[in-house]
Amino acid sequence: MKDKTFLMIPGPTPVPESVLLEIAKHPIGHRSSEFSSILEEVYTNLKYVFQTENDVFMFTSSGTGAMCAALENLINEGDKVLSLVIGNFGNRWAKIAESRGAIVEKIEVEAGDVINPEVLKKRLAEDVNKEIKIVTLTHSETSTGAANDIKTLCSIIKEHGALSVVDGVTSVCAMPCKPDEWGIDVLVSGSQKGFMIPPGLAFLVANEKAWKVYEQCKHPGFYFDWAAHRKSVRANSTPFTPAVNLIAGLNVALKMIKEEGIDNMNARHRRHAMALRAALRAINLKLLVENDENASYAITSILPPDGITVPDIRKTLQKDYDIVVANGQNQLKDRIFRMGTLGFVCDRDLIASVGALEATLLKLGHKFELGAGVKTLITELNKGN
Ligand SMILES: Cc1ncc(COP(=O)(O)O)c(C=O)c1O
Repeated sequence: MKDKTFLMIPGPTPVPESVLLEIAKHPIGHRSSEFSSILEEVYTNLKYVFQTENDVFMFTSSGTGAMCAALENLINEGDKVLSLVIGNFGNRWAKIAESRGAIVEKIEVEAGDVINPEVLKKRLAEDVNKEIKIVTLTHSETSTGAANDIKTLCSIIKEHGALSVVDGVTSVCAMPCKPDEWGIDVLVSGSQKGFMIPPGLAFLVANEKAWKVYEQCKHPGFYFDWAAHRKSVRANSTPFTPAVNLIAGLNVALKMIKEEGIDNMNARHRRHAMALRAALRAINLKLLVENDENASYAITSILPPDGITVPDIRKTLQKDYDIVVANGQNQLKDRIFRMGTLGFVCDRDLIASVGALEATLLKLGHKFELGAGVKTLITELNKGN
């Protein structure tokens, strides 16, 4: 049915109507006092969402732009970077670091696994000459649905003295992520995820320790130069022409987040992810991340049942029920499908999605007790955990 599509992918995510209406207005001048007032509110509320006292920079780019903005302001050629890779996006950090001339070492795990803090501790303890300057890591790894224990990993990195540079693209808003409290030195995120607005904006927050490293960077970027952005944030401005309409929409979305409360928003994502996981198991589906403790609250990766293909599941869900779920990426393509529970998602959306998935699997010949998924989902949602 026209205009009924529900995006259950890990971004872009559904956008509230009030945000869409704001974005649809005529653009205003980016040097006007009206826009400066919007920026003042946005910068203040971004600090609330990022739970930080530091300035939050906003770039007109996708999330990868913010990842580049992190490393190109920190790395000099020949610097050693340790990349903790639990999937494609962890690997992206390594590629960006290499593009800046860094010598990159990786700690990698199987798809669906997370970094064992003891392994990191051991590797950093071996670095007696403190050659490792930066450790890159991913909070919620969207390609697998696994989530690292960022709090513990960053405390280990802090003890060693390297900088922790964290991808929070699908975790900020969805999962507790507290840069100041947990000692995350640089954290990035993107707009089309938990922030409930379309793609096109990205965010970065850096602490004093990261600024000291920035000061030693011989060739910081131009478009993403931190100093230029800090100066602008403090003047309720932007260094270049920003995506004014998206920022006006973000202003509305951030107020919605504040009204819900960031802790409540995290809790909603946890409750949805855990209820969905239970529902999927109840209809005899296997999850790529088996341990709930290691699961992202933003995205769940599911193995197709024997004899049923991922393209058939995705095609039927979209054609018959207007629900879009994501395929796996790279080596996981057609081996998993991924359901997002990120951003503007309510209980009704989940109930409809699990019901539609049951109907899809029934059509495709999967053996399960019809209704068991929806029943489990509702039971878990009602527990309110
Ligand atoms: C964890 C993670 N990091 C980075 C990115 C890259 O963001 P973008 O596609 O907006 O450049 C994504 C996008 O899905 C992501 O999920």
